Amino acid sequence: MTMPAITRNILDAIGNTPCVELNHIVPDGCARVFIKLEGLNPTGSYKDRMARSIIEEAERRGDLKPGMTVVEATGGSTGSSIAFVCAIKGYNFTVVSSDAFAEEKLKTMSAFGATVDIVHSPSGKITPQLIPAMRERAEKLSHGESFYYADQFSNSDVLVGYGSLGRELLDQIPEGIDAFCGAVGGAGMAMGVARVLKQKLPDVRVTVLEPASAPVITKGHGGQHGVEGIGIGFLPPLLDKHLYDDALAIDEAEGRAMARRLAREEGILAGISTGLNVVAALEIAKQLGPGKIVATVACDTGLKYVRGDLYTGK
Ligand SMILES: Cc1ncc(COP(=O)(O)O)c(C=O)c1O
Repeated sequence: MTMPAITRNILDAIGNTPCVELNHIVPDGCARVFIKLEGLNPTGSYKDRMARSIIEEAERRGDLKPGMTVVEATGGSTGSSIAFVCAIKGYNFTVVSSDAFAEEKLKTMSAFGATVDIVHSPSGKITPQLIPAMRERAEKLSHGESFYYADQFSNSDVLVGYGSLGRELLDQIPEGIDAFCGAVGGAGMAMGVARVLKQKLPDVRVTVLEPASAPVITKGHGGQHGVEGIGIGFLPPLLDKHLYDDALAIDEAEGRAMARRLAREEGILAGISTGLNVVAALEIAKQLGPGKIVATVACDTGLKYVRGDLYTGK
C-alpha cells in the first residue's frame, strides 16, 4: 500500500475515500454491496466535496471575491463543510440553521469561524416548513453586493464536486456497478454520482431514497421526520428524472437500526441517512442476486450524532 503524498493544501485532503465491501450484514443469495466511507473527509462528510466546488466555481466565474461574505441555509453538514472551506480561503460565512439538527454540527460551524443564525423548530423535528423558512432567512441575509448566497438546493456547482465520488467508485470497483442508491436532500450527491456512472455504465440502476414519513418523491407530500440531511419537504430542483431509475421510501426506524448494526457488525460508524442507504442497498442486492454489485455511500461520520439518541436507541 502506498502512502498518500504530502498535501500542501488541506482542501486536497477532500475525497479519495476508501470503498469497502460489507462482509457481515449482507444475507446469502444477495449481490455484493460496497460502500464509500465519506466520513473520512476533513469535516466528516461528503459535503466537503460540494463545498469546495460551490466556492471555487463561484470564484472562477468572479461571483465570489475576496472580502465577500458567503451565506447559506443548512442543517449543518453542508454548513460545516462550507465553514471549513471559507476558513481556509478567508471568507466570512453566515449560516442559517436550526435547533432541529445535531448540536455537534452547529458547534462545528462556529469552530470554523462561521456566524450561526438559528431558526427555532418548536417540535425539534424537520418539518416541511423548516427548510423553506431557513432558506427565506438566508435569502434576506444575503441581499447586497458583498454577499454570495451559496443556495445548495438550486446551485448546479454542487454536481461538479460530486463527480469525483462517481469517478472514484468507477476506479475502485473495476468489475462494474449494477446499481447505486443514495438518500436525497438537495439530491446533489445522487445526481452528481449518477451523471458520471450513467455515462460510463448506461445500464446502471440508480435509486434515490427518502424517509417514508416524508415521501415527497414517491407520493408527492412531505412530512415530519428525524433523518438529518434528507427529506427537505419539497422536490429538490437538482433531482433530474433522466438520471435515476426509481425511488424508494425507507422507514426511518429501520434506517436507525441499520446504522447501529453497521457500527456493531461492520465497524462503520455513520449517520442515520447512511442507515437508510444500506437498508435500500440490501433490498436491491436481494432483488439483483449473486454475481451483481450494488454501491452506496456512508454519507458522514457517526461522531456527529453521538450526543443524540441514534446509538442509544434499541
Ligand atoms: C447526513 C446527510 N445525508 C444525506 C444528505 C443528502 O445529500 P444531498 O443533499 O446531496 O442529497 C445530506 C445533505 O445535507 C446529509 O447532510
